[in-house]
Amino acid sequence: MTTTDMEISARASQVTPSLTLSIDAKAKAMKAEGIDVCGFGAGEPDFDTPEHIKQAAITALQNGFTKYTPSSGIPELRAAIAEKLANDNGLSYKPTQIVVSNGAKHACYNAILATCQPGDEVLIPAPYWVSYPDMVKLAGAEPVIIPTSERNGWKMRAEDFENAMTPRTKMLILNSPNNPSGSVYTRDELEAIVDIAAAEDIYILADEIYEKLVYDDAKHVSIASISKDGYNLTLTVNGFSKSYAMTGWRLGYLAAPEAVAKAVDSIQSHSTANPCSFAQRGGLAALKGDQQPIADMREEFDMRRNYMFDRISKIPNITAVKPQGAFYVLVNISQLGLTSQNFADRLLSKANVAVVPGAAFGDDRTVRLSYATSLDIIKKGLDRFQDFCRTL
Ligand SMILES: Cc1ncc(COP(=O)(O)O)c(C=O)c1O
Repeated sequence: MTTTDMEISARASQVTPSLTLSIDAKAKAMKAEGIDVCGFGAGEPDFDTPEHIKQAAITALQNGFTKYTPSSGIPELRAAIAEKLANDNGLSYKPTQIVVSNGAKHACYNAILATCQPGDEVLIPAPYWVSYPDMVKLAGAEPVIIPTSERNGWKMRAEDFENAMTPRTKMLILNSPNNPSGSVYTRDELEAIVDIAAAEDIYILADEIYEKLVYDDAKHVSIASISKDGYNLTLTVNGFSKSYAMTGWRLGYLAAPEAVAKAVDSIQSHSTANPCSFAQRGGLAALKGDQQPIADMREEFDMRRNYMFDRISKIPNITAVKPQGAFYVLVNISQLGLTSQNFADRLLSKANVAVVPGAAFGDDRTVRLSYATSLDIIKKGLDRFQDFCRTL
């Protein structure tokens, strides 16, 4: 047998490589050739991890904290996460209900694996974070996409949820603040959604990774804090990547009813085991230490958000809703008559600007621009973006 004859499982064959990473790779390759590319593709903060967090990990390494830890994470970190969820989110979780994983991505995947199986449907409002449908497929379940509209701020209405439900619906995945739209669900909207979920005992996977990045009057509300039913049905995912600029550390967590947390612990203990020992010490320092760096990053993002949105809203034939969270502006390009992939490819090759096509997020009418890059690059990139749109 040659390596090209090797059989790939049906499970692996149905997942597609992440489109967001492939555009990023193309832009990086152009940069490596010396081309001046303005990258709006980034899905991570452009800031460095705050110094005191790095120092905690360095100290842990120097002190030989380099061995296996409990699979679900060190007890101090699980306790600190429980405290954070109580203080910031009004949620009461015991440390035994918390599993620390290798990023929020891993926490989402674990949560889906622990609760969904063949025959189950999982509802995902679009535009969605690129990995959800593939995670659902890897679990053998079926992703069911609920389209949303720009008119409704790219948010799923309670009636959209109700209409998409079937007897096979097992879970709803709700991501607020949202990647890619930057929309933030209000308490009223979440209450209506939780009521519907509670009537049919549908789990809610609440991906709250962007919770610290909200702007203007928007408030982040944790779905599990809505009601007792909400608490019992919600699997809350959060992490350190976006709020503390720690994407490379691979640290996130799940907080859930005890039975789900136990199942996730078992899955994790047989697959990856514990997240990196000294990264966990960094995570502990992040939660316990000075929170000012988070506020500073949020302020900088807010300034860039205002700039980017103001410029985009003046360009003819494209539209956008002002994002209230995360670090993206979702631009509706449907009036231009191109697919999102075609638009993104042409923009990159003709104007040296990288954006992510909405097809990656299940909405071909859009492209996503990230403002997790310097204001200078944002200015230059938007000049080029504007000129490019005018040529269409
Ligand atoms: C909505 C959403 N959830 C989860 C993640 C994954 O975060 P982590 O780096 O903690 O795995 C991302 C990263 O882009 C994201 O945008």
